[in-house]
Amino acid sequence: MTKKGLALYPGSFDPFTFGHLDILERSCRLFEHVEVTIARNSEKQGFFSTDERKNLIEACTGHLDNVSVEIFEGLLVDHASGRNAVALVRGLRQVSDFDYEFRMAFANRRLAPDVETVFLMTSEEHALINASIVREIHRYGGDVSSFVPPPVLDAMRAR
Ligand code: PNS
Repeated sequence: MTKKGLALYPGSFDPFTFGHLDILERSCRLFEHVEVTIARNSEKQGFFSTDERKNLIEACTGHLDNVSVEIFEGLLVDHASGRNAVALVRGLRQVSDFDYEFRMAFANRRLAPDVETVFLMTSEEHALINASIVREIHRYGGDVSSFVPPPVLDAMRAR
């Protein structure tokens, strides 16, 4: 199969989980290059700063040779068009993700008809993870080692 151009894998990644890594590894098999695109939300104070997230994702993806990590602020489709990206990758875990994802994909298509949204299914073992649950478990002292890659775990524990 011939790999297709550049895909963006956008999200908050606060923190980057094994579920994110799983979707990223799947994307890397389909696209020539995948940019993990971290959305900076100036209204929301994150657990990690966007710069910390970038460093952590780079530390978790050293084994992937067609990945880069960038931070952006503004409309995702503007960033995608500026980069000539052919696709936006989003991971689907469960049916409950679909409503939000469907609306976001239609909005993005309306704004940028040439950029296709591609949904990839996560592996079953990661289907119940999301970043806010990981943050909550960690906040109450729970063990998140099965949810986040080692560099993220170390950084969370150091907090
Ligand atoms: O990991 P998340 O929080 O589900 O990711 C959501 C994200 C960052 C991809 C989305 O909120 C986004 O694209 N934000 C940038 C602003 C934008 O383009 N909004 C229009 C999409 S509906």
